[in-house]
Amino acid sequence: MEQMNKKAILLAGGAGTRLFPLTKIVCKQLLPIYDKPMICYPLATLMLGGLREVLIISTPKDLPMLEDYLGDGAQLGIRIEYAHQPKPEGIAQAFLIAAKFIRNCGASLILGDNIFYGKLDFYRDALAIERGACIFGYQVRDPERYGVVEFDADGKAISLEEKPKQPKSHFAVPGLYVYDDQVVDLCRTLRPSARGELEITDLNLLYLQRNELHVKLLSRGVAWLDTGTTTALLEASNYIATIEHRQGLKIACLEEVALRMGFIAQSDLAKIIDRLPKNEYRQYLRMVCDEGPSASPEPVG
Ligand code: DAU
Repeated sequence: MEQMNKKAILLAGGAGTRLFPLTKIVCKQLLPIYDKPMICYPLATLMLGGLREVLIISTPKDLPMLEDYLGDGAQLGIRIEYAHQPKPEGIAQAFLIAAKFIRNCGASLILGDNIFYGKLDFYRDALAIERGACIFGYQVRDPERYGVVEFDADGKAISLEEKPKQPKSHFAVPGLYVYDDQVVDLCRTLRPSARGELEITDLNLLYLQRNELHVKLLSRGVAWLDTGTTTALLEASNYIATIEHRQGLKIACLEEVALRMGFIAQSDLAKIIDRLPKNEYRQYLRMVCDEGPSASPEPVG
């Protein structure tokens, strides 16, 4: 299912202070998660949602490196544009930066350090919603580190708080959001929080107040991994390595996703492979290419 009316935004800025000195030269989103740069995982999620027009937002310092890595996206059968966020003034600022790119469409935002693994139907269903916004809830041990959503007895979302000291539930809000065409106008009404940021939670609260916020709980069969600390980074790498070794399949291999989603043809992939260095990644893609686009019924990711 191709999402004609929704654009994708991948927010990959931020100061990277928590991971210093790892992030002194290379930005967080280009650090390895096992066998590929971190940004491949959120980009694969967007692609598996069927989104093909992507705006990557990052700092003026890091944007050239990201652009060097991913280019205009043509090799993946998608279109990638780039925009600066001069200072990390909040996640919701992404929509103001992206206003021209979004125009009168809806948009889905993913944070460049969020990794999802498992059946992504929840995301495809959210993208199909025409009116309002859709966010997700995911049970975590330490909700105080995230946006937190509280539900009433009927399972209806009743409150949203950003990093509350006393969380009202164990459901964190992952960094994957879907909005309708009101998003830019609503962002224009936001004011910076006490920490000087346009908060994504404040944007979601506007939708909640209008009774236009859908909150879907992710099942525990979906993995939402954190990369916020060096330990979380290692755990994410180990998780990806474990699954990849077990299955002999790669997670978030962008060329494979592009083929399986029908964004590129087998012949396009063959040309990509010809240009790759002779290593294990190339061997894997060779196998994917020989099997053809329909080898796996559910695209991996
Ligand atoms: O990961 C999910 C969480 O992401 C949500 O539960 C929270 O509601 C949301 O506020 C956010 O919390 P974080 O503490 O993870 O936000 P952080 O400031 O670390 O930013 C997340 C990523 O977005 C990070 O990789 C840097 C990037 N970023 C952040 C800001 C504030 C930007 O590119 N620009 C920004 O202005």
